Amino acid sequence: MKLIFQKIIKIVLLVMFLLISLFELKNLQVFAQSGDPVIAGAGDISPRSNGPQFQTANLLDSINPAFVLTFGDNQYPDGILADFNTYYHPSWGRFKSRTRPSTGNHDYHTPGGAGYFDYFNGVGVNSGVAGDRSKGYYSYNVGSWHLIALNSEAMSSTQNAWLAADLQANQGTACTLAYWHEPRFSSGAVHGSNNRSVPFWDLLYQYKADVVLNGHDHLYERFAPQNPSGGSDPTNGIREFIAGTGGAGLYAFGSPIANSQFRVSTHGVLKLTLHQTSYDWQFININSQVLDSGSGNCVMGSAVTSTPGSGPTSTRTPTPPNLPSPTRTRTPTPTLPGVPSPTRTRTPTQSVVSPTQIVGSPTPTGNICTYFKN
Ligand SMILES: [Fe+2]
Repeated sequence: MKLIFQKIIKIVLLVMFLLISLFELKNLQVFAQSGDPVIAGAGDISPRSNGPQFQTANLLDSINPAFVLTFGDNQYPDGILADFNTYYHPSWGRFKSRTRPSTGNHDYHTPGGAGYFDYFNGVGVNSGVAGDRSKGYYSYNVGSWHLIALNSEAMSSTQNAWLAADLQANQGTACTLAYWHEPRFSSGAVHGSNNRSVPFWDLLYQYKADVVLNGHDHLYERFAPQNPSGGSDPTNGIREFIAGTGGAGLYAFGSPIANSQFRVSTHGVLKLTLHQTSYDWQFININSQVLDSGSGNCVMGSAVTSTPGSGPTSTRTPTPPNLPSPTRTRTPTPTLPGVPSPTRTRTPTQSVVSPTQIVGSPTPTGNICTYFKN
């Protein structure tokens, strides 16, 4: 009888130990998730009025991101410094010290984007958070992510060469995100897809970038991972988001183009949580409703060399501990002549949460929308 009682006591203690261990593990996981950096942003932000940019700024207050990203056309209609100070500054300006902007075509309505650079860098100051005013592109790291702000309004071989060198130098970074104004792919009825950023896509795909963020079309759209030609590529493709929803008048959608997964035309901001080798996204409207959400995994592995004719020069294998085993392998097609094809692996299967589509139902803000069309 005594032995049976001792065994029961042991079993009870063992169960209690297991339950406590599971509880501690869950707490650690929650802590690790909650500690990962959050970024948020939008493009096409401030009309020349006290408009919805104040509501999207309130959203940013509630999200409290580590960095605020802008996807161009920060201040309408001409990017004048006085307008930045009058309309952008009282809204999104309160995040200025943690804003990492990119420029848009309207910001360049003033020669050299003078108002944009004067506002973000300081009047007459060459370099600052907006990068060198003669370039408007720069990069930085957030956690295990490499973030690249590009300038779609000043495409040049110089910028492309800088991007290639920057990607080459940061191959050890687990995940890569790039953002600029004019999207390569868009179902928008006003602007639509734009070929000017093909060189960006070619390089980003070559170096296994993960996420591209754009504005220009005043709507929100999410795409499945794609290659630079717009083909579905769930293994190594780049996921593009358009969030031209910061406050300017909204645009309608045309017919959905290939790989478009979610579309809605309403004001809001895109929130990204940057995990070590994956990311979560949410598109939140100005009523604080999450209209779209999901998760994706970063492409990890060796990048193809950027130097024509030479072999791979470095390996991008920052595989962290405790990740699930890779589920797929692939051999990428070399994009440069004479470059061998390194076999790469990618960790877990992409997952998309709440894939519900809301097909273009633009909130009517007629005058603003029409006025700000290009
Ligand atoms: Fe634009």
